[in-house]
Amino acid sequence: MKKDAYKVAVVGATGAVGNTMTRVLEKRDFPVSEIVLLASGRSTGRTLKFKGKDYPVHELTESSFKGIDIGLFSAGGSISAKFAPIAAQDGCIVIDNTAHFRMEPDVPLVVPEVNPDAIARYTTRNIIANPNCSTIQMLVALKPLHDAGKILRIVVSTYQSVSGTGKDAIEEMLVQSREMASSIQWNKEDGLDKLWQGLSPFRTVKTNVYPYRIAFECLPQIDIFLENDYTKEEMKMVWETKKILDPSIRVTATAVRVPTFFGHSESVNVETEKKITAQQAKELLSKAPGVKVLDDPANKVYPVTALAGGEDDTLVGRIREDESIPNGLNLWVVSDNILKGAALNAVQIAEILIDKYL
Ligand code: A2P
Repeated sequence: MKKDAYKVAVVGATGAVGNTMTRVLEKRDFPVSEIVLLASGRSTGRTLKFKGKDYPVHELTESSFKGIDIGLFSAGGSISAKFAPIAAQDGCIVIDNTAHFRMEPDVPLVVPEVNPDAIARYTTRNIIANPNCSTIQMLVALKPLHDAGKILRIVVSTYQSVSGTGKDAIEEMLVQSREMASSIQWNKEDGLDKLWQGLSPFRTVKTNVYPYRIAFECLPQIDIFLENDYTKEEMKMVWETKKILDPSIRVTATAVRVPTFFGHSESVNVETEKKITAQQAKELLSKAPGVKVLDDPANKVYPVTALAGGEDDTLVGRIREDESIPNGLNLWVVSDNILKGAALNAVQIAEILIDKYL
């Protein structure tokens, strides 16, 4: 039902994504009549700011959603599994940032620049799913190329920052980095063996969040391993791309956690049915919604995570023709994983929802 303003709950409001959701609502002036900030019992007593005012953080319970119009969920899959249906039952429309409902056929999975019309199908379950961060940025960049030349196959490798795992992971990388930077006594006159000893993956830095040290390391595992030896993160990119963009696209992915704080980077190779030159790709992407092209190799202009932080647009550069096949392109795609990869995408969905469907 259309209203001038909506009661909005943020589930996981104290977390990296939840907190950003609140800031995005504020920044985009989403019509909020009341904000309800929800987290675990551990956060009871805390307050968070919204539009300059302090709001208490409440413990998430089964009665949290009475009278709430829209719920933005980002407190983990098991919390969504339990509480999203309760919220939906109470008439709250859930926009869920976890993987829990994404592949359910009657739950729309939406990137506003790619398949906004799918939002119409929210009515069956009262739940809309926000895709995986790596999928969102890749599809924002690939949609204009798919429209122009029909993408047949995607080969993607990701370089994903620790903020995607949450605040505990950010802290873990900082603590490990400080410890290693101060404990490794090496300078360029020393032999490399001395450095190797300091870098051994099994040396005694504390690891809680990741299976190995993440500081000064790349980990080719994000999420759990599945029966086919791909990780779930890799298969999310395969499944979600088919659901959002085109079920006939073949996708293969390798997802890697790298020691950056914010922003996910991706090397994306596409094979198209119709030839798209690098120049045409640059022109198409320059006009595409949600994309900013940074591509001037002669002047060393290309996307890096430091440029993507706090930026709504997905940055695309290093646009080259793949010279090993007739119709191929290579791209380097970087986006703020907390913003467009999660919070902003969810709020954009909410904006379309209230504009077109309520
Ligand atoms: P809390 O801060 O009270 O633990 P991140 O992904 O950055 O680690 O954030 C996770 C978010 O999910 C936090 O807001 C966290 O709240 C919330 N959360 C975790 N467990 C629960 C729970 N059992 N009930 C409600 N919220 C939870």
